[in-house]
Amino acid sequence: MEKMEDCTHYAKVIRSAPLLIAVFLDQETMYNRTKDIQAIGAAIQNMLLSCCDLGLGAVWLGEILNSKEKVNLILSCPGSMELMAVIAIGHPAQEASGTSRKGLKEVCFEEKCSRKWR
Ligand SMILES: Cc1cc2nc3c(=O)[nH]c(=O)nc-3n(C[C@H](O)[C@H](O)[C@H](O)COP(=O)(O)O)c2cc1C
Repeated sequence: MEKMEDCTHYAKVIRSAPLLIAVFLDQETMYNRTKDIQAIGAAIQNMLLSCCDLGLGAVWLGEILNSKEKVNLILSCPGSMELMAVIAIGHPAQEASGTSRKGLKEVCFEEKCSRKWR
């Protein structure tokens, strides 16, 4: 885990987390790259939601992908395993502070349809 600190700008997150989960795409067994990556994103989201449910803190680390070859070396993973993310998990040091998000109206488009549904 100490070696993993050198793989990302978010070394502080890694240092303060007692558990890291590295998530890989197995390029040898994947059947559709796009769908498999979508499934991995959903799996990561489920892990984050479970952590939240358990009262744990978790951070999705994507910036570490800039050093994915180095991570593979540290974890002795073959090149066919492509790093997708690292999830840092621990006990939250403080209450989560609210973040600024765009309002639904900014990101959703509602089309009015005159057709009647049966
Ligand atoms: C694809 C992806 C990559 C991310 N990579 C990082 C990262 O490298 N470092 C980090 O601190 N947070 C990373 N995050 C977490 C976000 O910064 C943010 O905390 C998270 O999306 C939760 O959003 P919220 O703060 O609006 O609840 C990433 C999130 C996603 C979806």
